[in-house]
Amino acid sequence: MKKSVTTNLRNPRSKQPPRPVQIVGTGSYLPARVLTNADLEKMVDTTDEWIITRTGIRERRIASEQECTSDMGAQAALRAMEQAGVGGEQIDLIVCATLTPDMLFPATACLIQQKIGAKRAAAFDMEAACSGFLYGLEIGQQFITSGTYETVLVVGAEKLSTIVDWEDRSTCVLFGDGAGAAILRSRGDSHGILTTCMGADGSQADILLMPAGGARFPASRETVSGRMHYLKMAGKEVFKNAVVAMQTAALQALQKCNLTIDDITCVIPHQANIRILEALAERLELPMERMYVNLDRYGNMSAASVAVALDEAARAGRFQRGDLILMVAFGSGLTWAAAVVQW
Ligand code: ACO
Repeated sequence: MKKSVTTNLRNPRSKQPPRPVQIVGTGSYLPARVLTNADLEKMVDTTDEWIITRTGIRERRIASEQECTSDMGAQAALRAMEQAGVGGEQIDLIVCATLTPDMLFPATACLIQQKIGAKRAAAFDMEAACSGFLYGLEIGQQFITSGTYETVLVVGAEKLSTIVDWEDRSTCVLFGDGAGAAILRSRGDSHGILTTCMGADGSQADILLMPAGGARFPASRETVSGRMHYLKMAGKEVFKNAVVAMQTAALQALQKCNLTIDDITCVIPHQANIRILEALAERLELPMERMYVNLDRYGNMSAASVAVALDEAARAGRFQRGDLILMVAFGSGLTWAAAVVQW
């Protein structure tokens, strides 16, 4: 017997009960090229043993030169659309979460729109780093709950290999490329996204950033020679904040729908580091078997991580219709987010 749950869905202007929003299809795409820890041993002063014990990562995928964020995002979207039985022309809105857009503008969401034939869809990019897919989920949910749109495509896609400093051993071992996507709709039953929560703390913006390429430091000889177009991270600070923020977001989301961690069949976290996930599991008193982990195969794919993990876990049958899942993420900004879904 499934536990009855409460939701935080409400439309303040409407007397109608809120429309529950379902994830009706998921998809993911990983580029073919595998970069192993052994490959990295030849590139920087590191070892397979260090990378595995400090991060849990064994290999990651790297996109080809011809393959960009929008290409991977479109492939993931097409797989989600196929599963949902949704054609391009039925999509009303595309939200693409990415910190590695094909270009600063136009939006990668517009490029995806063209590639998947979603001619009617409005499209924009949204940047919340590793929390981006869950931010996107909340945005999509709000547009459907309010009655503005029927069908929303949320994509998390990254080509992080283009902003990783391949000479910096402390960061280059951590990241990979890939994309995941979800189609949101209101199917008319009570299952679906039960609650979402998002947060941010801009006072810690400097612990994880790419300094140049925006309006503050436009590209110049100095920014290139200073390696300012690469991702910079204060690893230990990020680690500490990640554990606390994900724990807080997870508990907040559970509390909002009157659930405890024991009600959750599967936790799908942002895939940054196995030690972060083990610390989170310990704080939530969650057995690791109920947490979905794929970072050993893909590393950290930022906005794509939760999206890919959701698709893989769903297709692997890690949860069934009616089961409760919790997604939780943390990233640069700082940002964090969580969502509870009854599948
Ligand atoms: N191989 C071998 N040695 C290394 C490597 C490497 N790849 N990288 C660092 N080291 C060395 C350091 O130089 C240091 O050496 P020293 O003691 O001689 O100075 C030693 O290993 C320890 O380094 P630490 O940084 O203290 O290692 P730590 O245990 O903290 O692990 C790590 C580093 C893996 C980066 C960890 O801090 C971490 O995972 N942080 C969180 C990262 C994260 O979650 N990012 C998510 C957000 S991403 C986003 O939003 C885009």
